[in-house]
Amino acid sequence: MKRKDLNIMNIAKKFSGALFIGLIGLTLHSCQSDPNSPGVEYMPDMYRSRALEPNMQQQDEYAVDSQEVRLPAVGSIPRGFMPFTIPESNEGYAMAADLKNPLPYSEETLKEGKTIFGKMCSHCHGKTGKGDGGVIGNSEYPPPPAYDGAIKDLPAGKIFYSITYGKNMMGSHASQISQEDRWKLVFYVQKLQGHDVAKLYAEKEDVVATEDAVAEEAAH
Ligand code: HEC
Repeated sequence: MKRKDLNIMNIAKKFSGALFIGLIGLTLHSCQSDPNSPGVEYMPDMYRSRALEPNMQQQDEYAVDSQEVRLPAVGSIPRGFMPFTIPESNEGYAMAADLKNPLPYSEETLKEGKTIFGKMCSHCHGKTGKGDGGVIGNSEYPPPPAYDGAIKDLPAGKIFYSITYGKNMMGSHASQISQEDRWKLVFYVQKLQGHDVAKLYAEKEDVVATEDAVAEEAAH
């Protein structure tokens, strides 16, 4: 061992007793008798951030209601939000029959619809839409109708309407599922109704094309 190292060791030994007593003193000093006191705070910046913490209750000039989180301005809408103007009423339900799925059909979209269905719907409606989900088997909850049974001809718009507003025992899913995702679900519900969805939407394009042709002819 070098001479210099020895010196450091000696000094450390000399002061270790004082250091130990000092540490005990500091520890005791940190425990204050007032239970509401945080005691001595080592690095208070780490507890009390200078930046506003969104979910902390704080009393400062910005936190008028003691919450740092501000409510969105009245009338704010999420980015990309499309208002759904059909009202929740019997007339609205009837009107919904004319709605067309605004999303272009693709297998990818259908697959996404299937994933959402698995998370949000199959516990009631069953994996294949027969109305035999796990919730139904284990409770008094009335089974929903099979998609390919009583409601096999329910049009896309009404499917969308019922997901949005709910129907009798089924609650509204508007707050949990975006409009876009609800239309993706419509594709998948139509598949479970027994439709060849790709064909259904390919035919729709034909219909639109024919309508355009008719309109063009009428204009001439
Ligand atoms: C809590 C159980 C439950 C959940 C979750 C649920 N449903 Fe339903 N659903 C029902 C019941 C019950 C009915 C039958 C309502 C009636 O006609 O009285 C129904 C009816 C429907 C109908 C037919 C509506 C009509 O207009 O006749 C569709 C379509 C439908 N559900 C789709 C969905 C989709 C898609 C989801 C997932 C986002 C979903 N449901 C989630 C219970 C549920």
